Amino acid sequence: MFLFALCLYLGKLVSSGGSLEFRYHNTVEVERYLRDVNNTFDFTHLHSIGKSVEGRDLWVLILGKNPAEHRMGIPEFKYVGNMHGNEVVGRVLLLQLIDHLTRGYLSDPLVTRLLNSTRVHILVSMNPDGFESSSRDCMYSQGRFNKNGIDLNRNFPDAFSKKESGMREMEVRAIMDWLKTESFVLSANLHGGAVVASYPYDNSNGGSELQSGSSVAPDNDVLIQLAKTYSYTHSQMHKGDHCYDSKDFKEGITNGYYWYPLPGGMQDYNYVWGQCLEITLELSCCKYPPESDLPGLWDANRAALLAYMQQVHLGVKGQVLDAEGNPLQNALVEVEGRQNLCPFRTDRHGEYYRLLLPGNYTFRVTFPGHQVLMETLTVPYGPDSFSALVHNFQLQRSAAATPGPSRPTQSCTPPQVWRPLGGHSPSLGPSGVTILLVLLVLRDTMLL
Ligand SMILES: *[C@@H]1O[C@H](CO)[C@@H](O)[C@H](O)[C@H]1NC(C)=O
Ligand SMILES: *[C@@H]1O[C@H](CO)[C@@H](O)[C@H](O)[C@H]1NC(C)=O
Ligand SMILES: *[C@@H]1O[C@H](CO)[C@@H](O)[C@H](O)[C@H]1NC(C)=O
Ligand SMILES: [Zn+2]
Repeated sequence: MFLFALCLYLGKLVSSGGSLEFRYHNTVEVERYLRDVNNTFDFTHLHSIGKSVEGRDLWVLILGKNPAEHRMGIPEFKYVGNMHGNEVVGRVLLLQLIDHLTRGYLSDPLVTRLLNSTRVHILVSMNPDGFESSSRDCMYSQGRFNKNGIDLNRNFPDAFSKKESGMREMEVRAIMDWLKTESFVLSANLHGGAVVASYPYDNSNGGSELQSGSSVAPDNDVLIQLAKTYSYTHSQMHKGDHCYDSKDFKEGITNGYYWYPLPGGMQDYNYVWGQCLEITLELSCCKYPPESDLPGLWDANRAALLAYMQQVHLGVKGQVLDAEGNPLQNALVEVEGRQNLCPFRTDRHGEYYRLLLPGNYTFRVTFPGHQVLMETLTVPYGPDSFSALVHNFQLQRSAAATPGPSRPTQSCTPPQVWRPLGGHSPSLGPSGVTILLVLLVLRDTMLL
């Protein structure tokens, strides 16, 4: 009887107070917890978006009023944690966030309004293999990479890189496929080793985007506002305190490239090809802090994680319709003065979402066989009311030639040449291995 009770107790990840314990849960425990949540709360939906190299599922928990599928006008939001396996604070915070959201729905007003207006996707760990192999160390990079020794935040297609290998790791392919199945609007990717909110671009090829050492994206104003929302809602990030030898970050934010150029990163990929604005959150100086630090880290980040989600309601949303009111898929919705590398397009529901700060904006909406539509809208601040401005564009048929985007665009299809990776990385000779190891050790303190 005692043993039975003990087993029951150990089987629970929830402490006597009813909340999730502040400790590091391994992959099996996380999966058990997520299944538990999925079975307990009808406003959650659990699915796997793929597998890691070692065959661990990449579980995504969706929370929202209608978690199983997209609903018109409900923006899709995501958080991704633990992309670098040894950067574990984000993983812990996302589990705590799930706990907070599930306990607060229909009782806490902010949580209720968030989940009634937004579909929230949480990938607690993008790199479970790395996590399982990491050592509890503040600085070193044991566990950072995936099983093939690849840095997942250097493995995405890159709009600025000329030499593109096209070899994608399984975890990266899973994210790329995920972005095709959901039209994400806003995202953040949680890391550790510094305390700062870093925004796109992370890379540059020295073109017009490169301005005073920053790689400036067309939606720079929005990206800065997003990063500041996090840093100022966080208890300390906005103070710009630095860790070890990292830079001072004014207001706790930085342009990614200005900090250091990073090819093949996930945030640029989301922004350029997924039309999803993503920032990178560095959440602690120590990548793998002692468990006793975790409650304080949750307190420091809780309000910021919620406020950032609320920013998904910036700007304008709606549909592009033809003269008969049918939704048009793949219509281009461009905002004057914002030359996105790939123009934003409507999804399969004819929907678009455009994060914009309050102000007046001229939209240019185009679809083959239809007249170009130009409309100017006054955009209010949406987050306070948990909704962006709703505006549908209606296009009229045209006999004239098909209009294109406002200017020539480069190919907006990312490289698709994927070589299947059978669990091994490209071979290196012994001296190559030695040099690589030396380089890795040297770079350890600056890898974030
Ligand atoms: C989630 O819960 C639903 C309803 O209880 C169940 O049908 C489904 O199989 C669960 N999903 C997972 C991945 O466990
Ligand atoms: C949220 O949605 C639920 C379920 O439809 C509803 O009962 C509740 O009143 C809504 N609450 C708010 C604050 O929108
Ligand atoms: C936006 O347009 C409205 C109506 O034309 C005008 O009253 C307002 O001053 C404009 N706002 C800005 C920020 O330019
Ligand atoms: Zn990292």
